[in-house]
Parts: sequence; C-alpha cells; structure tokens
Amino acid sequence: MEKSLFLKTCAGEVTSTKPVWMMRQAGRYLPEYREMRAKFPNFLEFVANPEAAAEVTVQPLRRFDLDAAILFSDILVVLAPMGISVEFISGKGPQVKSPVQSYRDIQGLSTFDSSKELAYTRKAIELTKQQISKETPLLGFVGGPLTVASYAIEGQTSKALAHTKRLYYQDPGAYHEFLDKMATDLGTYLSLQADWGCDALVIMDSWAGALSAEDYQKMAYPYTQKLISIAKKAGKPIIHYANGAGHLIENILQLEATAFGLDFRNDLSATLNKNPNTIFQGNLEPALLFAPVETIQEKTLEILEQVNNRPHLMNLGHCVLQETPLEVVQAFIKTIKNYKA
Ligand code: CP3
Repeated sequence: MEKSLFLKTCAGEVTSTKPVWMMRQAGRYLPEYREMRAKFPNFLEFVANPEAAAEVTVQPLRRFDLDAAILFSDILVVLAPMGISVEFISGKGPQVKSPVQSYRDIQGLSTFDSSKELAYTRKAIELTKQQISKETPLLGFVGGPLTVASYAIEGQTSKALAHTKRLYYQDPGAYHEFLDKMATDLGTYLSLQADWGCDALVIMDSWAGALSAEDYQKMAYPYTQKLISIAKKAGKPIIHYANGAGHLIENILQLEATAFGLDFRNDLSATLNKNPNTIFQGNLEPALLFAPVETIQEKTLEILEQVNNRPHLMNLGHCVLQETPLEVVQAFIKTIKNYKA
C-alpha cells in the first residue's frame, strides 16, 4: 500500500500537509454516536459488539477528512478477563466492584489469553478494515500499565492516585508484581491488535502526570517500556500519549516509542526546540474548540508553522470534549488540510 500521510510521518518523513486525527474522535460529540450508544445501555456490551464498534469507528471518517481511524474500544476492557469486574455507570464513569488492595488480591488475578477473551476486538478490526479505505491506517490502543492499574486499585477515576501510591509505598513487592502483569498482558494484547490488522498502536497513559518525576521513573516507566518492547515485535509504529506529564518529559522521551503525544499544557515550541529529532503529536487545547472559528484557525496555524519542517502528527492536546460543535472540528481539520507553508 502507498504509505499514508500518517505512516510517512511515523517513518520520519516531512510531508507538506500534516496528518490529523483526534483522541476520542469516535464519541459523544457526534450525534450518530449518541444514537448508536442509546441502543446499548451497557457501555461494555457496546464495546464488545464488533458490528457496533466498527460502525462507530468509521463514523467520524464519514464526516471529516481524518488521516487515521482509531478502533472504538476502551482502555479498561482488559480488566474483566483479569478477574477484575468493572462497570460503567452513567454520570459516575468506570466503577470496579472489588478494587485491588493487597498482595493477595494480585495473586488471585487470572492469567488470560487475549486472543480468546478479547476476540471481539479481532472481529471489530476486521469489520472496520472492510469499511475504510486501504490508505487509512487503523489505530489500535491500550492504556499505560500505570493508568490501567490505577483504575483497578482506585476503583474509579482518580486524579490523585492516592491508593495506587499507597500500595506502592506500603507494599512495593505487590505493586511491582501487579504492574509487571499489566505490562505483559497489555503488551501482548497490543501486539495482537497489530497482528489482527491495526497499522499503528497507541498507548494512553492518562494518569502518568499524577506522579512526581522520581516516582514515574520507578512506578511507571519500566512497565511502559516493557509493554513497548513486547508490542514493538509486531513491527508497527507506536505512539505514546501521557496526560499532564510535562514534568516527566525527559524520562518519557527515553521510551522506545515512535512518536510522543504532548498534552495541551506542554509548551510546544520549547519542546520541539529541545528535541529536534523526535516526532511529536498534538497539542491544541481541546477547549479552544469552543472559541470563535477564527481563533481556532489562528491557533492551529500557529502549531502548523512551528512543525512545518518536521514530521508531526496533528491532534488535540487531549480528548475531544463532549459538547464540541461539529463545525469547529471541521474548521480545525480544514485549516490543517488547506495549509500551505
Ligand atoms: O478515541 C477514540 O475515539 C477511541 C475510543 C476510546 C474510548 N476510550 C471510548 C470511550 C478510547 C481511545 C478511550 C481511551 C480511554 N478510556 C482513556 C484514555 C484517554 C483519556 O481519556 O485520557 C481513559 C482514561 C478511558 C477510561 C474511560 N472510558 C473513562 C474514564 C470513561 C468515562 C468518562 C465519561 O465521560 O463518562 C470512559 C468511557 C468512554 N470510553 C466513552 C467513550 C466514547 C464515553 C462513553 C459513553 O458514551 O457514555
């Protein structure tokens, strides 16, 4: 296949037009997503339905000139096969019934075979590939080991990771064993997504920013690197995204990923200047999509001018927000596609 803009960029090629995709591009800001979602009161059943997942994956590509599709799924689908039961409760987000709290809890977790227990992902990938053009790469993803483990330990979304840090300081042996299991299981699952047809792989470490640089080095980095070394064998580009992690950037850039997502808080030009040979992704403030179209165009052009001479994956600096108007998403993408250096 002729290499797409997206894959050229991942290979380090400077293209005059930059590829663009958005985190959570399949989601609640799209009316057609909300319509499908209404048919599945249970979010995890929605994700595990390959026809529905493929349909929702393709929806944003019908509307916008996007350079990649991202498989509709969730970072928490791996928990149930490990023996950690999770539910998505409207208004509350993910809820784990019996959070992981001790060495004993960790010993009791299942070793699972993602090719069997997450076989619906394979089917969703196959169905999606039938519906998108051969030139459009499909992205598979997992959460970072720290982030996924934090949901299991905290029992819900937590910005402070108090229980996770407590487990690490009280019982480091248990913590490390859990993270090691996460790294292995997530790495295996991510590399299977590549074997099943995904063209590039994303790791979303949403809560890495809750750690100090010193703790990140011990609590997260070795496990994300282990995940990467397993997934790398599949031979596909790997994009690492960490949220709120500007203070960890030097450590993060040592990971053997192909490209690094910067969140909206990062000073893009300073980071680019410091790292002339690294491929980055991002980082328009998602809330900026509530500004007038001219402001969105202006800020998008500002990024384009900074990355003009390098390979760069255009994206928001975190997930697209739920109430984002469709016209402004269109304006953001059009500005990128019409840009002439
Ligand atoms: O990006 C995409 O379009 C692909 C699909 C995708 C979803 N979740 C679908 C989803 C991806 C890549 C994710 C990743 C994910 N899931 C992350 C990492 C990215 C980030 O947000 O930093 C995290 C932390 C999760 C965990 C998660 N999933 C939470 C906390 C929630 C609830 C949040 C809420 O607003 O209710 C989800 C649910 C979820 N995952 C939704 C979508 C579209 C919303 C569900 C709905 O329709 O009600």
